[in-house]
Amino acid sequence: MKTKSVKAFGSESNVADLKQMNINRREVTTKDVEIDILFCGVCHSDLHFARNDWGMTQYPVVPGHEIVGRVTQVGAGVSKYKVGDLVAVGCLVDSCQTCDNCKADLEQYCPEWVGTYGGYDKHLDTTTHGGYSETIVVDEKFVLRVPENLDQAGIAPVLCAGITTWSPLRHWKVGKDSKVAVVGLGGLGHMAIKLAHALGAHVSLFSRSNNKIADAKALGADEVIISTDEAQMEKAMGRFDLIIDTVPYAHDLNPYVGTLNTSGTLVVVGYLGPLDPMLVTVPLIMGRKSVAGSLIGGIAETQELLDFCGKHNITSDIEVIKIQDINKAYERMLKSDVKYRFVIDMKSLKN
Ligand SMILES: NC(=O)c1ccc[n+]([C@@H]2O[C@H](COP(=O)([O-])OP(=O)(O)OC[C@H]3O[C@@H](n4cnc5c(N)ncnc54)[C@H](OP(=O)(O)O)[C@@H]3O)[C@@H](O)[C@H]2O)c1
Ligand SMILES: [Zn+2]
Ligand SMILES: [Zn+2]
Repeated sequence: MKTKSVKAFGSESNVADLKQMNINRREVTTKDVEIDILFCGVCHSDLHFARNDWGMTQYPVVPGHEIVGRVTQVGAGVSKYKVGDLVAVGCLVDSCQTCDNCKADLEQYCPEWVGTYGGYDKHLDTTTHGGYSETIVVDEKFVLRVPENLDQAGIAPVLCAGITTWSPLRHWKVGKDSKVAVVGLGGLGHMAIKLAHALGAHVSLFSRSNNKIADAKALGADEVIISTDEAQMEKAMGRFDLIIDTVPYAHDLNPYVGTLNTSGTLVVVGYLGPLDPMLVTVPLIMGRKSVAGSLIGGIAETQELLDFCGKHNITSDIEVIKIQDINKAYERMLKSDVKYRFVIDMKSLKN
């Protein structure tokens, strides 16, 4: 298969900084769209993956799955997009298209789903490389249309932080009478607040410290509960229909379970791994409460969200950086020192 060499930023080991490298992109095949990448959001998953926190990274890794760009070339069989269209690619670039999950627009749960980075690239028999790069080539089925009225950098985080919180909000049917709480105000958390608020829900934020209260309210939260304050946690008992927990590291879920109402659900989207401490089942049984998980969202649901954002003029609150500052950005993200998502201006890679 013919390939093109393009510039990218990636890492060669779990302890190495990200640096400039070259990667191959395939020439467009019949159903492919080639995209010139304009902006790419920086997700905490990029950092987990670059540092092999999940024990599955193959190096070199080129992260990035919040991609916005313009179409520069299409294959002969492409019908949805033409050169010049403003498009996006999220966390998925392929799936089997035949299993029950694929048929139900739940490609993210397909046993053969291919991540935008770190997945198996069947075309080049290598790992897929993400959006910290000049271009990407993707089958049109996994390309999304971006409303032209939205800020191109601000919309990028919707492709992961947005859809990861939108999917549970939709699955658990959040609407005007819902009481939703979000744990952690970072990239995912701030999108969860904006989206739940736009759906008409009453929104609460659990945060570790006082310093995000004003921001949370400006984003659409009705109240902030300081999770380290026992009196505030006690007062929150039995109140929420749905809690979206975005915290990236192992933490105690039990205090949050207590704040669910009867039949309420705590959905974990942040931390991947064994719980420590374990869950106490008593409140689950005594209140028919659930603890669940959720992974990103399917292609149709991601398009639904982009259209919803276009209609309601919703984008992420971002700090735009150059690709050369990505290692510093990772360190700042670990300290929660960003309001509330870094987005890379990919022009910086071209210069
Ligand atoms: N399920 C999925 O499909 C999916 C998709 C995308 C990302 N993720 C995962 O979701 C997690 C969140 O991603 P993100 O990009 O939103 O991360 P982020 O921007 O770093 O935000 C995480 C937030 O969690 C809170 N937090 C609580 N304890 C923390 C601790 N010990 N260290 C750091 N933060 C802590 C902080 O908020 P406060 O200061 O307010 O407490 C922080 O802002 C990551 O683990 C990521 O891999 C999952
Ligand atoms: Zn992500
Ligand atoms: Zn499938």
